Amino acid sequence: MMRKDRIFVLGGTGFVGQHLLNRLARAGARSLVATRRPHRHRHLWLVPGCELYEVGDWEIAQLVEGMAGCDVLINLVGILNETAGRSFEQSHVTLVEKATQAAIQSGVSRYLHMSALNADKDAGPSDYLRTKGRGEALAHAAADAGLAVTSFRPSVIFGPGDGLFNRFAGLLRMLPGPFPLACPDSRFAPVYVRDVVEAMVRCIDAPHTQGQTYELCGPRVFSLRELLLYTAERIGRRVRVVDLEDRHAQLQARIFQRLPGKPFTMDNYLSLQVDSICASNGLEALGIQATDVDAVVPDYLHPV
Ligand SMILES: NC(=O)c1ccc[n+]([C@@H]2O[C@H](COP(=O)([O-])OP(=O)(O)OC[C@H]3O[C@@H](n4cnc5c(N)ncnc54)[C@H](OP(=O)(O)O)[C@@H]3O)[C@@H](O)[C@H]2O)c1
Repeated sequence: MMRKDRIFVLGGTGFVGQHLLNRLARAGARSLVATRRPHRHRHLWLVPGCELYEVGDWEIAQLVEGMAGCDVLINLVGILNETAGRSFEQSHVTLVEKATQAAIQSGVSRYLHMSALNADKDAGPSDYLRTKGRGEALAHAAADAGLAVTSFRPSVIFGPGDGLFNRFAGLLRMLPGPFPLACPDSRFAPVYVRDVVEAMVRCIDAPHTQGQTYELCGPRVFSLRELLLYTAERIGRRVRVVDLEDRHAQLQARIFQRLPGKPFTMDNYLSLQVDSICASNGLEALGIQATDVDAVVPDYLHPV
């Protein structure tokens, strides 16, 4: 059981959020999940101890009200692509400013912040990584006002409901011919979502993790090409990968970012210019044995 067991969650309605809420429920915690559209996330009522809190415009006063009586704030908010209503600046920076101010005002003492590998406010190659870096720096700056902060920097995350293997599988099923792949040699260490949320939960009551940043990686490094081939093998498809050279990758990004849903953007291309692999193993530091893709992916990707 956890000592700090009343948790206010931002970004809890997404992929990582759902796994985190279930893990918190198993630890006996009560979670309050802030969302603009509670009606879209009614299934979260089924998670024991989980409630939804409607926030209209994410104003500080609303957040302070919601956080009243909570011990911990967990922020999972993040976007890979900007949309008409959501910018990187607003999602990764402004919201962190508001959330940390609200936490301090409402007496929350602990803050867990989800960042990303290679987030860097100055040297990040993309807007995504630079704004993620600014948000993470702001998060740690809130320690000056008495908030105990820990941040997490995962590589790409896999597990049921992920946007990695499921997305590749969807594309492979849609496109039967040769597969043109941008940045095929970019490297990742996919980390299992349950390991990620386990790391977060272990940090809540652990004073030695305060002020720390944990890089989170799985045990195996894959190139993007290898991830695609792995997915193809799992779903029983043969695929011929066509490596796009750099200028063709950029052209693909410029075209695809105009398509509905922005399947690939110039900003995504820029993020892929740096390998998403860990310099130090945060899971090991937290006593968690990283799960291999083979132990999990076959459970949710099946031959068709
Ligand atoms: N998945 C990965 O491979 C991966 C890798 C590295 C880092 N991360 C980081 O991990 C976190 C969680 O990722 P995920 O895969 O769970 O993402 P996700 O499924 O897209 O969920 C993102 C969550 O953030 C919320 N959100 C996004 N923009 C917002 C905004 N402007 N205002 C308020 N809420 C906003 C979404 O709310 P709605 O329900 O309203 O859309 C959703 O609850 C993110 O910070 C992401 O950057 C993920």
